[in-house]
Amino acid sequence: MRIWSVYNLKGGVGKTATAVNLAYLATQAGYQVLLWDLDPQGASTWYFRAKPKLSIKAKHLVAEKEAIGQVIRSTVHEGLDIIPADFAYRNLDVMLKKGDADVGLFRRLLQPCDEMYSLVIVDCPPSLSRLAETIFAMTNTLIMPIIPSHLSLRAYEQVVQRLKKLDKHPDTVLPFYSMVDMRRRLHKEWLASPPPSLKKPLRTVIPYSAVVEKMGEYRAPVQMYAPGTPVAEAYRRLWKEIVKRDGELN
Ligand SMILES: Nc1ncnc2c1ncn2[C@@H]1O[C@H](COP(=O)(O)OP(=O)(O)OP(=O)(O)O)[C@@H](O)[C@H]1O
Ligand SMILES: [Mg+2]
Repeated sequence: MRIWSVYNLKGGVGKTATAVNLAYLATQAGYQVLLWDLDPQGASTWYFRAKPKLSIKAKHLVAEKEAIGQVIRSTVHEGLDIIPADFAYRNLDVMLKKGDADVGLFRRLLQPCDEMYSLVIVDCPPSLSRLAETIFAMTNTLIMPIIPSHLSLRAYEQVVQRLKKLDKHPDTVLPFYSMVDMRRRLHKEWLASPPPSLKKPLRTVIPYSAVVEKMGEYRAPVQMYAPGTPVAEAYRRLWKEIVKRDGELN
């Protein structure tokens, strides 16, 4: 079972759109997928029409008093299950203990899922807190959407700095350009020549497109309502490139 987390310290960069589209594409490729919505905003939970309220308290989950299986819900998509975001997650940072990342708490919670799923995709909230560090510790591949902007690059640099200081961090960090608009000078320049601090961005670029905004209208991944569009094609390339770079999804 591989764990991919879609993360950036910066908000509104396309994390949820990426998590939702990758999760769907993974099911299309025949994988059994678990999407873990760890953002109390619950956006991916909403896109997949899952019920947000969990019967199990988050604090009992992180204290390992309840099994994770209790909070997994199926979706209308074959091969895709979800752990919905509960609004109670807003307190997760307080519930997590200092050493939880080091002991691999989240990976331990997911252990019983190992046989059932080939891939877990985590939709992360935009923060660099204890929760983020606990997520990093369980992650194989950290997928980071970056809008070509100075602030977005700065957030990426802050994350890379932090990761260097942690004992447990993802095996691979994969930044990629998100919401790209080639009419904008900086977007064009950074695509032609990425800033030196941006280490090996993926070749795939996700363009800025109104098709993605419509995900809210359809409450579905773009492949379902606009498969022939350039952005749907870009997500398919993104999926393939990440599978290749991950190297161990089977
Ligand atoms: N490629 C895109 N083109 C146009 N709009 C996009 C694109 N990707 C995402 N959006 C839109 O931008 C907004 C933010 O996207 P999204 O929710 O995926 O970002 P996020 O990083 O998960 O945000 P948050 O940090 O709040 O969780 C949404 O309204 C979404 O529809
Ligand atoms: Mg989000």
